[in-house]
Amino acid sequence: MTRLARFILGLLIALALLTWAVSGVVQTTTREWFERDVSVHAQLAMVSATRSMADAWYDPEGLQKQLDAIDRNQHVIGVAACNADLTTRSLTPDLPEDFRCQEVGVRVRILNSGVGGANPKLQPWSTIATLPTGRVYVAAMPVISQGQVLGFVILAHDLSYIERREARAQTFLLVVFGILAVLAFGVPLLVARRVRHDWSMEVRKLMRKGGKQPREFQPILSDVRELVARMAEEREDLAGHWTADRLKQVLNRNLHGEKIVILANREPYSHVFAEDGSIEVQHPASGLVTALEPIMRACSGVWVAHGSGNADRETVDRNDHVRVPPEEESYHIRRVWLSDEEQQGYYYGFSNEGLWPLCHIAHARPTFRAEDWAYYQQVNQKFSDAVCDEADSEDPIILVEDYHFALAPAMIRKRLPAATIIAFWHIPWPNAERMGICPWHNELLEGLLGSSIVGFHTQLHCNNFLDSVDRYLETRRDREQNAVIMHGQKTLVRPYPIALEWPVRWVDSAASPEECRARVWKDLGLKADALLGIGVDRLDYTKGIEERLLAVEMLLERYPKYRGRFTFVQLAEPSRTKIARYRDLNEAVEALADRINERFGAADYRPIILLRSHHEPPEVFRYYRAADLCYVSSLHDGMNLVAKEFVAARADLRGVLILSEFTGAAQDLTEALIVNPYDLVRSSNAMAVALAMPEEEQHDRMRSMRSMIGRFNVYRWAGKMLMDAAHLRNHERLSGRLTEHVYDSSNI
Ligand code: G6P
Repeated sequence: MTRLARFILGLLIALALLTWAVSGVVQTTTREWFERDVSVHAQLAMVSATRSMADAWYDPEGLQKQLDAIDRNQHVIGVAACNADLTTRSLTPDLPEDFRCQEVGVRVRILNSGVGGANPKLQPWSTIATLPTGRVYVAAMPVISQGQVLGFVILAHDLSYIERREARAQTFLLVVFGILAVLAFGVPLLVARRVRHDWSMEVRKLMRKGGKQPREFQPILSDVRELVARMAEEREDLAGHWTADRLKQVLNRNLHGEKIVILANREPYSHVFAEDGSIEVQHPASGLVTALEPIMRACSGVWVAHGSGNADRETVDRNDHVRVPPEEESYHIRRVWLSDEEQQGYYYGFSNEGLWPLCHIAHARPTFRAEDWAYYQQVNQKFSDAVCDEADSEDPIILVEDYHFALAPAMIRKRLPAATIIAFWHIPWPNAERMGICPWHNELLEGLLGSSIVGFHTQLHCNNFLDSVDRYLETRRDREQNAVIMHGQKTLVRPYPIALEWPVRWVDSAASPEECRARVWKDLGLKADALLGIGVDRLDYTKGIEERLLAVEMLLERYPKYRGRFTFVQLAEPSRTKIARYRDLNEAVEALADRINERFGAADYRPIILLRSHHEPPEVFRYYRAADLCYVSSLHDGMNLVAKEFVAARADLRGVLILSEFTGAAQDLTEALIVNPYDLVRSSNAMAVALAMPEEEQHDRMRSMRSMIGRFNVYRWAGKMLMDAAHLRNHERLSGRLTEHVYDSSNI
């Protein structure tokens, strides 16, 4: 039923109820009036009639004549003159049987008590009765002569005409109410519909491209378009799962299929020489790469990155392009070469000894050197130029990834003012005070504000960024939109928690959990009843690897039953090894593992197994599938995709995830066992709980986390950002057009 039909039906029901109530009141009131009227008139008539009847009482003819005269009144049904002994003296023929002398006489008090008496009481009697012919009013009145009661007169008065009048009044009322209702509701409704129709025709005309826009509509036109776009976006977002195809459609529909340019320091595929001199393809260990590579495969375009593999130069064409993924070749990498000095200053120095420890609360002191800063600027410019060279339109879509390129958005904007630039900061953003430690915090903020959108994993990091902007720069804040306006350029600041592709391709090609378990058990030399914990990280001090191993030690200390049975395998990829802090960490982790192994190990048992080398994704997924628990103990982490990968790998719904509360992932994966990695007692407890967790509970937790990461996958992550970008782009295009229009004097 349409909304209008429902409205009319409701109106009719309300109207019927109202009419029913009003006509009820009217009916009772009018009936009372009429009946009172009739009784007064009847009694008056009887009083005068009884006087003349007393005179003619003993003259039967005269008496009959008087009765006939009264009976001629059109509303009188019948009259009777009765003797005091209740016999009939005279009557008209139509007087109803129920109201003749005998019947009425016995009911009249006056006659019972006073007839024939010396002092009769002169009370008349009357009643209203319903006969098959209708309602009648019956009255009786004594006939008195010289103080003696001679008898009494009965008069029956027809009341059925009152009912007829009532019915007529009710019909009249209904008609009047009906007309009033139609006028009261129908006319405004028609007027409103007409106005709405005219209005929407007008708006539709305006929405059509190229339509002339009357000035009075200009302020609302952008709002209407915005609303339409938002509604489309919401529909887009709500309906069903996000997939690679759907992302492609969004790109085509909302951004007219422009190709995407990604700028990230780390390349998705690097080429390295194997020992035998052949060239191998490697997947670098990087959360950023894990997340973005599927996006690139879905959307195609170009990924601009540092060519860091030792065989990278051998595999590019003369434009430094290489088509990837191998065999699929759906997009290409544009490799940018860096000198050792550039790499030292920009990558190791400013990015990883300065910004990385600045942004992570992991107790590493940031180091900021002027020469590193100079390289950081120089390399940002170099990559920005490469991006602009790769762009094939005036307004390309460019995704600038992570802390290596804080300056690039403003640099790109300078060359391509109409570009849509989305900068995503994959690591935490510190509070404003801490940001102030960096001597070039203003330049970093200004650089990022060259973007159309700046994204973080969490709202907290957005807030920290906005606080930093407020504290250090002269800008305007649009609190409604969560945007910053600097030199007339608007930048939205939004949380977009990053995620995995779904389904994860490594899971599809992995062996069954039983096979994975058998293979891992064999590789690690585990006993049949062994229990296995796993950690997968780059060897980075933010990952809390030392705290993790200490928690394993505490588990074995507090729960002796796990000694000889529980093994923790740590897959640790050496990372940024030119930095002393990382080398120190490597040594510390090794020493710690040795100490624990010495304390609890035996000839055939090692509680900690450290595998410090690069592991390709299929191998990592084999370990995920084999383990009883996975412990992610980061001291601070923007998101941490290892946690999500472990869940993605467990299609068998087995295994328990223990997750640090200091990761962005802890906000998404709430069914993990969430711990503070510094709290070794609780963390070791969590491991014991995980190892003893009933299978059913493991299933429940896994099922719920898997449904979450399936729905909130990386296609949705990218889709939301691209839709926000499309929306912004539309808005800017429109406001540009509107501004021109408003100031075009021919229009005024
Ligand atoms: C983090 C950063 C990424 C980086 C990755 C690996 O996840 O956010 O940008 O790629 O670490 O670090 P690396 O220095 O080896 O690229």
